[in-house]
Amino acid sequence: MIDINNLVRMNIMNLQPYSSARDEFSGNEGVFLDANENPFGELNRYPDPYQRELKAVLANQKGIDTAQIFVGNGSDEVIDLLFRIFCNPGTDKALTFSPTYGMYDVSAAINAVELIKLPLTDSFQLDVDAAKELLKDCKIKLTFICSPNNPTGNAFPKEQIEAILQASQGIVVVDEAYVDFSEQGSMIDLINTYPNLVVSQTMSKARGLAAARVGFAFANTQIINLLNKVKPPYNVSLLNQKAALDALLDNETYTRNLQILQQEKERLNNLLNELKTVVKIYPSDANFLLAEFKDANATYQQLVDRKIIVRNRNSVVNNCIRITVGTPEENTLLINELKQLENEKSTVY
Ligand SMILES: Cc1ncc(COP(=O)(O)O)c(C=O)c1O
Repeated sequence: MIDINNLVRMNIMNLQPYSSARDEFSGNEGVFLDANENPFGELNRYPDPYQRELKAVLANQKGIDTAQIFVGNGSDEVIDLLFRIFCNPGTDKALTFSPTYGMYDVSAAINAVELIKLPLTDSFQLDVDAAKELLKDCKIKLTFICSPNNPTGNAFPKEQIEAILQASQGIVVVDEAYVDFSEQGSMIDLINTYPNLVVSQTMSKARGLAAARVGFAFANTQIINLLNKVKPPYNVSLLNQKAALDALLDNETYTRNLQILQQEKERLNNLLNELKTVVKIYPSDANFLLAEFKDANATYQQLVDRKIIVRNRNSVVNNCIRITVGTPEENTLLINELKQLENEKSTVY
């Protein structure tokens, strides 16, 4: 059985965390002269550092305890904090499965941690045997599995993720930013089984709150306590907490938009498939499609010239463009422009 305490950096173990005014007194009633706030205004008070209201709703929805939830300034903050808690700069390592979300790489570099990138197979699957072999190295403190994966779009089978969890001597983060779009569902119910599992999710995708910057980590209380120990005291603003709370309670909008996006993904997929410039579209469990074009760089530039911005992933997957599913109107516009480009004599493929 993994002992989380043995994985934590010594300086974090010994850290005396900042004790904010709201740590020392957390009631709502009273005359507050303790935090050097301005007594006038509407946003004059510091927000709840532990986001209790938000966590209460989330715990209820997810069927877990509030103590198993960490709220971050986007899930990007969760990634960075995990590096800072578990990886000694210059000595410890982390593992990802490439191609995948770019922030694991950036956070590793910021924290001076070597990131091992194990390539996915040709069909974008996890090479579990190779991962098990690598995970014999106890210096690998963090493993990131992005499922559904960005930019390939596919979710990995749960049994494979569990096999990696079992082989790992460190923390395994399952990044579920796109889980709402996947039929496979979340790994969140396994946080009680695996002490080294962190599931991260975000309000930025299916919940439509990318501007608000709210992300979550779900894990055992020991890991959650460490995240709370290291985070900036007021890492999620009052406005963001409120926005997240409202969005979580508005199930109608969530369900309606999710349904539209799923239908549009299917429609976009079918229409793209009819185009001569499109070579292949990969199956997607997310809100985007990874499509191989005859010449991704050329198509990307032509679309940008027409003010349609997609993500050129040519440098990551040869000749591939990642297309986020937009509104029905936006998707139609994209398809029409691509059709027009095909018909233009100047376009040589
Ligand atoms: C896989 C993955 N994880 C995390 C994030 C970042 O999410 P957040 O907006 O919560 O920081 C993204 C954003 O694109 C993503 O693709």
